[in-house]
Amino acid sequence: MDYENNSWIWEGVNYYPRVFGGLMVTAALLGLSTSYFGGIGVPYLSLPCSWSNLGIFHKKKSGKRRIRVYMDGCFDLMHYGHANALRQAKALGDELVVGLVSDEEIVANKGPPVLSMEERLALVSGLKWVDEVITDAPYAITEQFLNRLFHEYKIDYVIHGDDPCLLPDGTDAYAAAKKAGRYKQIKRTEGVSSTDIVGRILSSLRDQKNCDDHNGTEVKPQEENQSQASHIAQFLPTSRRIVQFSNGKGPGPNSRIVYIDGAFDLFHAGHVEILKRARELGDFLLVGIHSDETVSEHRGNHYPIMHLHERSLSVLACRYVDEVIIGSPWEITNDMITTFNISVVVHGTVSEKSLNCELDPYEIPKSMGIFRLLESPKDITTATVAQRIMANHEAYVKRNAKKTRSEQRYYEEKKYVSGD
Ligand SMILES: *[C@@H]1O[C@H](CO)[C@@H](O)[C@H](O)[C@H]1NC(C)=O
Ligand SMILES: *[C@@H]1O[C@H](CO)[C@@H](O)[C@H](O)[C@H]1NC(C)=O
Ligand SMILES: *[C@@H]1O[C@H](CO)[C@@H](O)[C@H](O)[C@H]1NC(C)=O
Repeated sequence: MDYENNSWIWEGVNYYPRVFGGLMVTAALLGLSTSYFGGIGVPYLSLPCSWSNLGIFHKKKSGKRRIRVYMDGCFDLMHYGHANALRQAKALGDELVVGLVSDEEIVANKGPPVLSMEERLALVSGLKWVDEVITDAPYAITEQFLNRLFHEYKIDYVIHGDDPCLLPDGTDAYAAAKKAGRYKQIKRTEGVSSTDIVGRILSSLRDQKNCDDHNGTEVKPQEENQSQASHIAQFLPTSRRIVQFSNGKGPGPNSRIVYIDGAFDLFHAGHVEILKRARELGDFLLVGIHSDETVSEHRGNHYPIMHLHERSLSVLACRYVDEVIIGSPWEITNDMITTFNISVVVHGTVSEKSLNCELDPYEIPKSMGIFRLLESPKDITTATVAQRIMANHEAYVKRNAKKTRSEQRYYEEKKYVSGD
């Protein structure tokens, strides 16, 4: 449980006994149990408050104040690009506070979000680099909100990507923070954007539809261009990125290893919740991520929407995950159970049905008595996320086309070096 992201909690445990005595140890341990095991559960909206209350401890810590950094966003259709941005932001300080734009503000500025605030909050809080979440961030940062960040939330630096962020009147949204010397910039992650993912889902659903009625006449030339463009965006996984997302630690000598597998396509709030529950059953959570071929074979040719390496990064970014198997087999073998010393194999009650139901992939763990069916806390699935997008098809196509054009313009104006 020695997660990087929880280092402040652990420091609390190790440190405060000396400073404050026994009472504070209890408080720090309570902090651990509520934020680590229950943080994304019950106290949803009270999360920022309870966490900032815990923050009091830090300020008293031997005069050396921790640097608090802030980054905001809509985090709709959360992907590893967001996760990577937040990872970089966290590296610029000690505590990362994320500002989540409210549903109302997103509706007013860019149309309805795909994910609700509750779902977006679950995703963001589930990231291993996030320490606190503010749930009422404005869409465009204002001077008034900046002051609130600096004074109320004790933020040292506001972090933003190197894409331009202009207010409606054309001025730089971060001018005030820059002037105060409290602005830092990170590089945008290459190869993925929410726009690109929406494009992939739309073209995947369209292909599926055309395939279903053996009728390709519905594809409009304009949309064809768009779907080609969305497939051009290529993610090139590097070993360094995987290392950056990893905990870099194996299980301890007496760890109870929990195994869960799946596609984890379009990583969503349901995934975070089931991973959290799975992790609670042991000391080390090993996640098997099915290969693209396996997913296609069992879910249909139009899946997965995210490639194996993209799906692996999204899962690795989750605070409840200790390790992933990149391209795990469909059926759990005896060999795997022995090699990884798996104590319990879990599977959620809510999952996509397989097209080929000839063999039970969990037959071996079941026969060994180490299989556990876990009640899925949410009924959201990859297909339901995709369907929500389909339901708003028209609006999304318009929004997508407009954004693609403005992104193209932006890329034409600026050459990128690969993001760190
Ligand atoms: C193809 O789609 C068009 C428009 O939806 C429809 O009029 C036509 O009957 C379809 N053809 C076949 C072979 O299904
Ligand atoms: C589609 O792409 C072709 C060339 O690739 C281009 O000439 C055409 O204008 C595009 N159509 C639309 C509607 O963007
Ligand atoms: C395998 O896991 C069990 C806990 O289920 C643990 O007691 C044992 O030490 C582990 N074995 C090895 C070789 O790590």
